[in-house]
Amino acid sequence: MSDIENTGSPESGVLLQGIDVHKSYKTPRDTLQILEDANLEIMEGEVLGIVGASGVGKSTLLHVLGGLDRPNSGSIQFRGEDIYKKKNNFLDKFRNKNVGFVFQFFNLMPDFTALENAMFPALIRDENRKTAQERAEELLSQMGLKDRIHHKPSELSGGESQRVALARSLMNRPDLLLADEPTGNLDSHSSGVLIDLIRKLNEDFKQTFVIVTHSQRIASKMDRVLQLRDRKVMAIDKDLII
Ligand SMILES: Nc1ncnc2c1ncn2[C@@H]1O[C@H](COP(=O)(O)OP(=O)(O)OP(=O)(O)O)[C@@H](O)[C@H]1O
Ligand SMILES: [Mg+2]
Repeated sequence: MSDIENTGSPESGVLLQGIDVHKSYKTPRDTLQILEDANLEIMEGEVLGIVGASGVGKSTLLHVLGGLDRPNSGSIQFRGEDIYKKKNNFLDKFRNKNVGFVFQFFNLMPDFTALENAMFPALIRDENRKTAQERAEELLSQMGLKDRIHHKPSELSGGESQRVALARSLMNRPDLLLADEPTGNLDSHSSGVLIDLIRKLNEDFKQTFVIVTHSQRIASKMDRVLQLRDRKVMAIDKDLII
């Protein structure tokens, strides 16, 4: 690929770029090639959908993009800098400060309240507890959970739990929010509520999202959709997904 420096520079509007990404997993019997020369750009302020068949490598791609899993070759550039080539604890900081994750199964801590779960990323960063609490309360209110903040996960519905997870992922004001089938365990009403919230966060704060989904209905609400197929990333018309 040419023009890597240009396309990945901060002025270009490209927030995160995957360049010629290869990712394989070694199993005792063979090597599974999951991504091969995969290329993609995530623009600042967009809501990008990623679709593809089960097992094709969508979660793998998200992990590689988010600094959780190193590619075998190729690079992931955040505002023009290769995240896997930086020194020391860069990746830890990147994951804590620059990206937020939302997963299909919420991953909330069962013994803690919604408020404590949401505050957690800020406490890891040694932020002032009062400031963290205020921000968590504000975020949970934005998510429509003002009267649920002292509930533990077992006392929340699936949709509410996922909104707590969304609040938690936004706690440290990430540049990029990566969501792996965030509506996979929600009914259609709760899915709609979550996507409307995501659209609002994007509108109000220009929050960038990458959302993996199996749902045509969810994909149709994205700004742009990419399809993972045959180990590569390709553009797809979001209205033609079946
Ligand atoms: N740590 C691992 N070791 C070996 N193989 C793995 C590992 N993680 C994932 N795989 C394999 O890589 C392939 C891609 O997995 P991945 O979870 O990325 O798919 P996916 O597109 O997210 O699927 P789904 O839609 O079902 O969530 C799968 O065949 C999976 O079995
Ligand atoms: Mg997956």
